[in-house]
Amino acid sequence: MCGIVGYIGARKVQDVVLEGLRKLEYRGYDSAGIATLDHKTIRISKSLGRMANLEDKLVTEPATGTIGIGHTRWATHGRPSDENAHPHQDCSGRFAIVHNGIVENYLTLRDELTAKGHQFESETDTEVVAHLIEDLYNGDLFSTMVNVAKHIRGAYALVVLSKDHPDMLIALRKSSPLIIGLGEHENFVASDIPAILEYTRDVYVLDDGEMAVVRQNGVECFSLEGTPVHKDVYQVTWDAVSAERGGYPHFMLKEIHEQPKAIRDTLTGRLSEDGRRVVLSELTWSKSYTKAVDRIQIVACGTSWHAGLVGKAVIEKLARIPVEVEIGSEYRYRDPIQTENTLVIVISQSGETADTLAGLREAKARGRRVLAITNVVGSSVAREADDVIITWAGPEIAVASTKAYTTQLIALYLLAAYFAQERETQEPDKLKEIISALGNLPQVAEQVLDTAPQIEEFAQTYKGAADTFFIGRSLDYSVAMEGALKLKEISYIHAEAYAAGELKHGTLALITEGVPVIALATQPELYEKTVSNIKEVKARDAFVLGMAWVGDEELEKSVDEVIYLPATLPLLAPIAAVIPLQLLAYYAAVARGNDVDKPRNLAKSVTVE
Ligand code: AGP
Repeated sequence: MCGIVGYIGARKVQDVVLEGLRKLEYRGYDSAGIATLDHKTIRISKSLGRMANLEDKLVTEPATGTIGIGHTRWATHGRPSDENAHPHQDCSGRFAIVHNGIVENYLTLRDELTAKGHQFESETDTEVVAHLIEDLYNGDLFSTMVNVAKHIRGAYALVVLSKDHPDMLIALRKSSPLIIGLGEHENFVASDIPAILEYTRDVYVLDDGEMAVVRQNGVECFSLEGTPVHKDVYQVTWDAVSAERGGYPHFMLKEIHEQPKAIRDTLTGRLSEDGRRVVLSELTWSKSYTKAVDRIQIVACGTSWHAGLVGKAVIEKLARIPVEVEIGSEYRYRDPIQTENTLVIVISQSGETADTLAGLREAKARGRRVLAITNVVGSSVAREADDVIITWAGPEIAVASTKAYTTQLIALYLLAAYFAQERETQEPDKLKEIISALGNLPQVAEQVLDTAPQIEEFAQTYKGAADTFFIGRSLDYSVAMEGALKLKEISYIHAEAYAAGELKHGTLALITEGVPVIALATQPELYEKTVSNIKEVKARDAFVLGMAWVGDEELEKSVDEVIYLPATLPLLAPIAAVIPLQLLAYYAAVARGNDVDKPRNLAKSVTVE
């Protein structure tokens, strides 16, 4: 997810663009850049890192003029660097573009354009579009862009600046968001409302498959095929602060609701069109290595460690490879037992967690192959691992990790299915069933989010709670651990996750009248056992919120309230089951008046031991 800003009017474009980019840094902060047009010359300034680096550059080389575009990057294709920062230009310097999204056919286009003599300066998919514009340019920017849109596949929000057309910007939208801010003798383009709220509250929200010609005194909207379309003006009522959160009161709630998209983006390009195979083209190891792996050690911390627990269960079940899940701070001092075919997987949203990074380095020092699952392109674990699977969750701002966790699970499901298909440990039809269910998870997540009102109401009972327990068996136990952490870290209520079958071995002594217990019962083969454990706590007058599949008519007889989950494979239950627990933690923290996005004592990325 990147941030785009464009401006045409009478103000100093540098001021407008920089201010807008600052408001969009939550969308990405790997690099930033600006392109302006002055006296028929496009000048570009861009730099690796946060906005401050770009601002430093502009002190000595200010961007002049009153028309321009800017970009703050969340790297996808091409690591964070000066060269890969946007805006990008064509060979002639006639055009500059900024882009948010993924051009899926960029490699094919790049080969074709290279064959025609185009010279590329970056590794990005975006730069290919700049050269494509140059290649297709017929003197008229609008019809050229209509033609360009026919040639590129994927998701994009694009804004083009041309020195031949100093009176306009052209903005195109396909999947990635783009709005047009409507001012008095000035107009704006942006990825999101916060960037322009200081200047106007009147916007056109471009719909998928639309484009706009943005001039100082007017905006015309069209379909990507060039057909004029009518747009109603949308009046923004948000205040500036909540606008950064897309209208949500907290980043955490926004990120919980972004999960269907994050899951969809993480699956994109990794399931074959015929729905029969997992495609992990980012893996560089050989087929023989895939078959030779005799043990996997997953190293992670916190929520990422909880994702590893689910990873263990699904890899062992599908690929029959033994998996150990290690807490980073323990692993690095444990002198782990390994063979040369032990694969070490590190999981880290930030890619910078010191304990996890140390585990990676320990594994590398022992000669092990390391695979990183991370949400940040170019992060330390991404750079130091042998292979990387990126989760496409986009920047996760809230300290409490939500969409990173579910996309880590997606990566682990894909990896488990990949091993199973390459080692032929599962029948093709079984794999097809799993792949089909994976492809349906964005819809499942969408449906689970409909439980939010029920959860919000139930969370009020937690307002005064001192202790609470999450219980489950097998995969439900792993999810229970994540649910307990979520509740602890933002509501400050003491919460403990317990294997449901283990309660009677001691912890049951803590279950007294009214103690809230969350009981997960999504695993059919353990359902009866789980229900009997629920009856154990009910017999001690606990207050039990159960979680089961839609259509279950048994559980309600044993608990006080039930959260019903939309159907998916029991193996994929963690994706559905964790979302109500994220919402429970969120609403309990709100009910207790806590700082949800920045809970006490905690940091988003723990880069120290
Ligand atoms: C998650 O809600 C916590 N904020 C924390 O446990 C986090 O998962 C842990 O610090 C690991 O972070 P990482 O995924 O960036 O390595």
